[in-house]
Amino acid sequence: MTHGQFPYSRPRRMRRNPLYRRLIAETRLSLDSLIMPYFVREGHGVREEIKSMPGQSRFSPDSFLDELEELVRLGIHAVLLFGIPNEKDEKAVQAWTKDGILQKTLRQVKRHFKDLLVITDLCLCAYMDHGHCGVLTEEGEIDNDRSLEILAQAALAQAEAGSDMIAPSDMMDGRVRFLREKLDQQGFRNLPILSYAAKYASSFYGPFRDAAHSALNCPAGGKIPSDRKSYQMDPANLNEALREIAMDIEEGADMVMVKPALAYLDVLREAANTFRFPLAVYSVSGEYAMIKAAAEKNLLDEKAAVYEIMTGFLRAGSTAIITYYAKEIAAWSHSESRAGFNLPADCEHRAR
Ligand code: PBG
Repeated sequence: MTHGQFPYSRPRRMRRNPLYRRLIAETRLSLDSLIMPYFVREGHGVREEIKSMPGQSRFSPDSFLDELEELVRLGIHAVLLFGIPNEKDEKAVQAWTKDGILQKTLRQVKRHFKDLLVITDLCLCAYMDHGHCGVLTEEGEIDNDRSLEILAQAALAQAEAGSDMIAPSDMMDGRVRFLREKLDQQGFRNLPILSYAAKYASSFYGPFRDAAHSALNCPAGGKIPSDRKSYQMDPANLNEALREIAMDIEEGADMVMVKPALAYLDVLREAANTFRFPLAVYSVSGEYAMIKAAAEKNLLDEKAAVYEIMTGFLRAGSTAIITYYAKEIAAWSHSESRAGFNLPADCEHRAR
């Protein structure tokens, strides 16, 4: 590494105007790295605002096609899909039947869009009456291995409906290998798995639980814990995250994820340094809601803050970013002069 000495070295020389700054920018936000999450529900003509996430909606399959039309036109080519079923039960039936909301929507989307990567979230929490991400034993504990069986069934249903990538978010042990084997056996050898490898038990999922009609606190009783700390990770741990990621890569994951994002940038950086592997980061509902709330109060410049945060994710080492801001960023980018953008246009004007 070369260090210069003042007054011969003056870092500010290269910051004097946007032309210098753009030339030496080490990270560039591109629409290619953004993945937009969506929630689909039953019904017709539904575009229902999600109160906890201003600007986001739940869509019925038909309205969702219109929404995607717009998204693709704006230049976003990857989505992460969540299903919100009308019925929940102890077998998570809607997660694996052919006509489950996610599977049904997926088939329609794949018929209409060729130029769109549809990643499907794989979990049981939205489909289970108790709201946990796995099956419960009589004693009220999460039965890891029996959960794997149901998850695999759901993964196959998603694969058959045309998923482009299966994204297990349940945090059961061994699921990547289990899913890989089942998918391969059924002929889905080329279907990639994006593993939520380091997923923390986080308070930042609050708005999502409202959006997906998923329990914020699962009903407690007997030994059933009301939180998800027996399977999602403890925010205190970094080494454990690296072990989780290593295991998932070993088990056959094609891409691994760190989630949430803002409070876990160290995990991201460490994972990027350690694994040299495609890495996604999920900037979750609570992070989105936080910035929206601050922007609504005019406490900060929303666009500038969002660019800064996204740049931070890239700088920390992520390959792809899952963010509820994806569509809005795409819309903003079109009002700007350059395709690769580091600063909002208005900031650039001020600088010039
Ligand atoms: C389902 C799932 C959750 C999120 C993604 N998949 C909720 C949870 O685990 O509690 C959170 C996404 C967000 O907050 O944006 N297991």
